[in-house]
Amino acid sequence: MGSKQDALKLMEKSQILESFSQELKNAFSEIMRFHQVEDGHIFVQEGAPIDNFLIIQEGVLGRYKTGLGEEHLSGDTLRESVKTDAVWVDTVEGVGRVTGFFQNLTDDSSPAYATIVAKGPGEVWSVKGTDMRELVKSNGSFGLELLGYAAQRLRVESKITRGLLKKFNAGSSACTANGKLLKVICYDTSSWVSVGFRPALEEFNKSIKDEELEIRMDFTEERLSAQSAAYATGYDAICTFVNDTASADIIQTLSLLGVKMIAQRAAGFDRIDTNAARAFGITVARVPEYSPYAVAEFGISLLMAVNRKITRASNRVKMSNFALDEGLMGMDIHGKTISVMGTGKIGCILCNIILGFGAKLLCYDVFENEAVKAAGGVYVSKDEVFEKSDIIFLMMPLLPTTKYTINEETISKCKHGVIIINTSRGGLIDTKALLQGLQSGIISGVGMDVYENEEDYFFQDWSARNIPDPDLVALLGNHKVVLTAHQSFFTKEAVDKIILTTLENLRDFAAGKTGLDHPNNCIPITKQGRSKVCNKTL
Ligand SMILES: NC(=O)c1ccc[n+]([C@@H]2O[C@H](COP(=O)([O-])OP(=O)(O)OC[C@H]3O[C@@H](n4cnc5c(N)ncnc54)[C@H](O)[C@@H]3O)[C@@H](O)[C@H]2O)c1
Repeated sequence: MGSKQDALKLMEKSQILESFSQELKNAFSEIMRFHQVEDGHIFVQEGAPIDNFLIIQEGVLGRYKTGLGEEHLSGDTLRESVKTDAVWVDTVEGVGRVTGFFQNLTDDSSPAYATIVAKGPGEVWSVKGTDMRELVKSNGSFGLELLGYAAQRLRVESKITRGLLKKFNAGSSACTANGKLLKVICYDTSSWVSVGFRPALEEFNKSIKDEELEIRMDFTEERLSAQSAAYATGYDAICTFVNDTASADIIQTLSLLGVKMIAQRAAGFDRIDTNAARAFGITVARVPEYSPYAVAEFGISLLMAVNRKITRASNRVKMSNFALDEGLMGMDIHGKTISVMGTGKIGCILCNIILGFGAKLLCYDVFENEAVKAAGGVYVSKDEVFEKSDIIFLMMPLLPTTKYTINEETISKCKHGVIIINTSRGGLIDTKALLQGLQSGIISGVGMDVYENEEDYFFQDWSARNIPDPDLVALLGNHKVVLTAHQSFFTKEAVDKIILTTLENLRDFAAGKTGLDHPNNCIPITKQGRSKVCNKTL
């Protein structure tokens, strides 16, 4: 393997090289080099100048985005980075498959879009860009052949691109008479979003006139998904809400469509794959706080509704049933032991309200808050929270480490009759275990503003439809459960702040504050300690 004859045989099977004249194939066979490689061999590093193209004889190549741009690593460090931080883009496989051909026709040293790695042992031929360009210079007809092939491919690709742009009615991002235009599409738009954003945007654009920037927003009720990602064609940024999913493959689609920013109009961003966003050079910014009071106060409302059976009582009275029986009996909050798991911005405010009731306050967090301690909160272990609490509030973010904090095992440790309140994220509770806990009586009541599979239902009217989710149906039919549809944040003050901060986030992005440099960036530092978002290769 590795002879000129082998190279010629392979070219007959190659989707690109097969179409060339025998003379050009012979010339190529002189400059093709054979490589037998091990699993993990790195052919090309993202961001590094492309100086050869590859033809597969046997095996598979993976293309990965590391988001490292021009930061060149080598050997084990690069291999480690690909393993830990990189996002898979696609796979190049099949005898004769070529990658990097067009980039090597010119000598502009354009940076590689992705890192190319051997997935398993393989046999690959490479052609140096300099050798190919020398070949072209040596024989004018070779140049014409390659130009003809490139022109044909360009015609096909541009037809597809024009067709797509026309289909989605998208113009390219451009300049207005007054300066730069930032085009944004807003997903999952309930009426409060468009009604709130439209006048605020008009005012905001007036206020930033001197900055020569205009933000233009379009709205869709569709949630961000693999299908609706295509709506972002021609937009610079998308604006998302809590139930929009930006997984790695959706982020890749957005990146290919030219989207450079995700403006999350919420604090939580657990449905955005920030690692993929970093790898594809997409800035992600959020609204870190709008009104922590709104959420803390709503948490207390849920507790009071569950404990004092407010919805049940109200329904009974509406049916002219004015009887008072044990079904409506609650307990004093004063003197009870209440735990707050997650004493961040919202949890902290909640702690103060709880202390106002005269309850005993226990806290659990990975970081202790001195102000909470000074006010009278006592930090305890997770187990103590479950063992000692009459009421537990979940106020921490949804992370791999916090998923299903309430599960079969932790419920079994709880005091009989515990009340659980969750305004944070549905994934903090294993719903099936919760339903069992309610059934067994360990849990006497639950207040939930979030539900683990809420994205299929919340912010939509399902009143005339059958709900195909048995857990949700069981929650709705259980009188010990007060369930609301993610409305804790929903006060006038909070919505005004969400809108203004989102517009400021977009303005900051347009002003060049990208990646980690964005004041409300969500992208974490990588395991390799790097965090740069690189737009250069996109
Ligand atoms: N329902 C709603 O409308 C609504 C609105 C806003 C926020 N939220 C949710 O509330 C959550 C809290 O918001 P916030 O503004 O207080 O956030 P925050 O970042 O200020 O506080 C989160 C706290 O959780 C702690 N934490 C992190 N990991 C933990 C762990 N493994 N165990 C225990 N504690 C941990 C952090 O140290 C921090 O103190 C958000 O993540 C969001 O999911 C819901």
